[in-house]
Amino acid sequence: MCGIVGYIGSKNCIPIIIEGLKRLEYRGYDSAGIGFIENNSCRVIKNKGKVSLLEKKVAEGVYSPSVGLGHTRWATHGEPNEINAHPHYNADKSLMIIHNGIIENYQTLKTILINAGYEFKSQTDSEVLAHLIDSFLKKGNELFKAVRLALAEVEGTYGLAILYDKEPDKIIVAKKGSPLVIGVGDDENYIASDVSALIAYTSRVVYIEDGEVAEVFRDGFNAKTILDEDINKEIHKISMSLEEIDRGGYETFMLKEIMEQPESVLNSMRGRLLFDEGTVKLGGIQNLAERLAKTKRIIITACGTSWHAGLVGEYMFEQFLRIPTEVEYASEFRYRNPILQPDDAIFFISQSGETADSLAALKEAKRKGALVLGICNVVGSSIARESEAGVYIHAGPEIGVASTKAFTSQLVVLALITLLIARKKDMSLIDGQKIVEEFQAIPEKIKTILKLNSQIEEIASKFRDAKNFLYLGRGYNFPVALEGALKLKEISYIHAEGYPAAEMKHGPIALVDENMPVVFIAPKDSTYDKIVSNIEEIRARKGRIIAIASESDNHIDNLADFTIKIPDTIRMLMPILTVIPLQLLAYHIAMKKGLNVDQPRNLAKSVTVE
Ligand code: F6R
Repeated sequence: MCGIVGYIGSKNCIPIIIEGLKRLEYRGYDSAGIGFIENNSCRVIKNKGKVSLLEKKVAEGVYSPSVGLGHTRWATHGEPNEINAHPHYNADKSLMIIHNGIIENYQTLKTILINAGYEFKSQTDSEVLAHLIDSFLKKGNELFKAVRLALAEVEGTYGLAILYDKEPDKIIVAKKGSPLVIGVGDDENYIASDVSALIAYTSRVVYIEDGEVAEVFRDGFNAKTILDEDINKEIHKISMSLEEIDRGGYETFMLKEIMEQPESVLNSMRGRLLFDEGTVKLGGIQNLAERLAKTKRIIITACGTSWHAGLVGEYMFEQFLRIPTEVEYASEFRYRNPILQPDDAIFFISQSGETADSLAALKEAKRKGALVLGICNVVGSSIARESEAGVYIHAGPEIGVASTKAFTSQLVVLALITLLIARKKDMSLIDGQKIVEEFQAIPEKIKTILKLNSQIEEIASKFRDAKNFLYLGRGYNFPVALEGALKLKEISYIHAEGYPAAEMKHGPIALVDENMPVVFIAPKDSTYDKIVSNIEEIRARKGRIIAIASESDNHIDNLADFTIKIPDTIRMLMPILTVIPLQLLAYHIAMKKGLNVDQPRNLAKSVTVE
């Protein structure tokens, strides 16, 4: 999510770090910071906003340190501002850290450290690492050991880099779940969260693996496991171009983001599932859970893909909470003079948090006194700031214009909210625990689906010249049909419609002939028999059928021209799985037509105009 870069050698590290940060800026861009050691003391310069602002701020002084770190932030805990930007100091400013990832047990660690007399300056989870390492330095450990001892107490993910003015000739790095590489030079070394930040200087890299810690010197490095075991690291030669590296080796950002979903979905749940209590912890709305359980009506407001996530949310809320729920297009909601009651709760779902229609609808709801809650990806975005409370989806920056990983993370968060409130209502502990287990299994199931990529590409090759597409689903998978159709039309420019499967008989069936591809989302759930009847109806009219079906379903192979088999889960979570083949199908059809999927014509990533 965020970007890390660092240098130790004989040159002035500042221009090297600023250049590296600029290369990483596309993945996190709400604030930036640089820290270095000069004349044996640490110095940090940071600001809210772009790396170019940081560059100007640094240029106001005269520095030429030969060891330093830089960070560009995509906020997860604490709004984007100068204090929350990295690096973070320990109390006497002898040590600084930069961190990517999420420290899941930061509240527990923070309480222990506060009780031990540590004061916190920021709202970040990362700052605990500075004080925790400091506490081990105070016990007489040298830095490398202090870091290993501290990390043994940390739960969560990190790509971490540390400087300490009492040991000024080294950078310590550590990794668990967030990438970190060492770039090997001649009497100089680099560190980065991504090879793109250092490829301009060296093509020799060492990949730090989970559970490893390394001390990086000017003329070499030394790696160990957190448990103090020695390890030998291999130096790899990079042959990718810069552009390929930015996209993580994928051909496009969209494919990268589709493939990232096991991880992004996990990040949306990280630290939030409480198996023993059969519920979840959602810091942003925890203290509103009782009030939400008593809400008489929920309204979900959003645009585009986020609106489709809202429709899935409606099924979740009505099934488990038994609270009447309405889903509104933000643009319609705001101009309709909506009727709002004091005990209504309104959720605004927005990846960017900047969509003009959603923001204006939010302001209108606020004016009318409703409880306004945000579900956003971009921390500190306008919708997040204007909401009374909310839940971040933590999907990480989404660069491809067509939303993919943000959608699945929105679904995860809506399901988490459902579980939180349902457990305040009448859901039993056992039922809550079963749902938590299903959540935990989702990332692996997504991985299984992603392995079907080449099968789906093969199917896509048959449909590149199609002029129209129909997408049909029932229940929870009706919004998925809408989302599948939207994905296809926005990146392939093929006309596509999503419908509730049974509605097809009331009009769209007139379109069906041997040239009409029809995608059925037909997992084995309570609507399965009905959807099979709909498939038969399309077959009878010679439509070409692509079915997204359950692994265990052999019958459907006889009905569909193409089947894509996916694992099962509970109905509420099924859309997180069923949408993935549709993302890949749209993607491959568009690529086979030679189109630019990352920047489709006429579209913008953040629609800040009405
Ligand atoms: C489709 C897509 C758009 C957005 C819509 C709302 O792939 O990305 O439909 O979902 O413009 O954007 P956010 O979620 O940023 O409010």
